[in-house]
Amino acid sequence: MNILEMIEKKREKQELNQKEIEFFVEGYTNGTIMDYQAAALVMAIFIHGMTKEETTNLTLAMAKSGEILDLSSLHKIIVDKHSTGGVGDKVSLVLLPLVASCGVPVAKMSGRGLGFTGGTVDKLESIPGYQTSIGINNFVQNVEKIGISMISQTLNLAPADKKLYSLRDSIACVESIPLIASSIMSKKIASGAQKIVIDVTVGKGAFMQNMAEAKELAKEMIAIGKLAGRETVCVLTNMDEPLGKAVGNLLEVEEAIKALKGDLSEDLEAVVLELGSYMLKLANVEKNLEKAKELLRRNIENGKAYHKFLELIQNQGGDISYLSDFENFERAKYIEPVYSQQEGYIYEMNAKQIGKLASHLGAGRIRKEDKIDKTVGIVLLKKVGDEVQKGEVLAYVHANHIQHIETAKEELTRIIKMGKEKPKKIATILAIENDGK
Ligand code: URA
Repeated sequence: MNILEMIEKKREKQELNQKEIEFFVEGYTNGTIMDYQAAALVMAIFIHGMTKEETTNLTLAMAKSGEILDLSSLHKIIVDKHSTGGVGDKVSLVLLPLVASCGVPVAKMSGRGLGFTGGTVDKLESIPGYQTSIGINNFVQNVEKIGISMISQTLNLAPADKKLYSLRDSIACVESIPLIASSIMSKKIASGAQKIVIDVTVGKGAFMQNMAEAKELAKEMIAIGKLAGRETVCVLTNMDEPLGKAVGNLLEVEEAIKALKGDLSEDLEAVVLELGSYMLKLANVEKNLEKAKELLRRNIENGKAYHKFLELIQNQGGDISYLSDFENFERAKYIEPVYSQQEGYIYEMNAKQIGKLASHLGAGRIRKEDKIDKTVGIVLLKKVGDEVQKGEVLAYVHANHIQHIETAKEELTRIIKMGKEKPKKIATILAIENDGK
């Protein structure tokens, strides 16, 4: 077999067979296929797409490129959750302790943020003492002991995806449906999930810019899940504006704690309850989705969800006394308001632009090696559809460098778009895709 023939085949819109795809994944993972050859093949795939069979073969080959986690010792249905990425997305911090408090075991390996999107691991690490690298035995023991563990990817899971994802990122080939579907599903299969709930974000701050693309991606992942024996549900959610109010690591932890105590913004609550109700359903805890939502609400109101969060943090070395009072939280040196220059209604807050701005303040990383500043970010006081008076505070900028303040304020004033008419509110939950069960 020859990589040049494969590139030529794909360039000419022909289909690659299973053996060829396995040859490519193995060769690229072990370094016998070079970056420039892989880049040429990926670009041909990006332009011409892949058949369903090719996408499934790519997923399974990438899943098998490293270790496969076996969680069968837990003797429970493991339901995993994934998001295609967003801005202000603190859903895992709220949702996972919440579903764990309802009896769904949570064994979650999360990623770090890259570019304008945030990552759960960076948020967890902004809590003093919290260990995200605890080794696989401790990870499984924690799930057995308290029903939840959240760690960074310690295992060598789907290394082919890791390499291919960085390559795609560096050659402008991320937004491809077969490549995203195989990337996500290979990781989920390798991480031992039996059932999978995926938050497919749609809009200005997401890889999928419209519903048609998002539905196609969802259908592709559901089909792969079916072939691999992993029931998959996709919840399509709006990511035109950031989710909730805070964008930035410790600021999002603060918002997540408030949410776990019952103070949730409308959009965050909608996403948490929708994903949570499907997780409870797939785990056979509550088949009726409305009753599942009631159970989730109840566990927020009675404090069980917050208690489970504290158990998770303490069990992994985090300082829960620090979390008991927001006065303890380290703050950025400068916290400055952004005032509205006019009265009217907010009709746009581009999530990607706000994510990039937060990243520029130090909340995210442009390159993998960059260090995160956990205290900086943006807190929105208003959301799309809100009426605003001239001079009202729209948002706060949290920064540690004086030179960032004025530019961030100017940028936010430009990003937050206002008009005279009240805009039509876009629903947070846009659609559900499953395999019809
Ligand atoms: N998230 C992933 O894990 N992979 C992609 O390709 C895109 C989003």
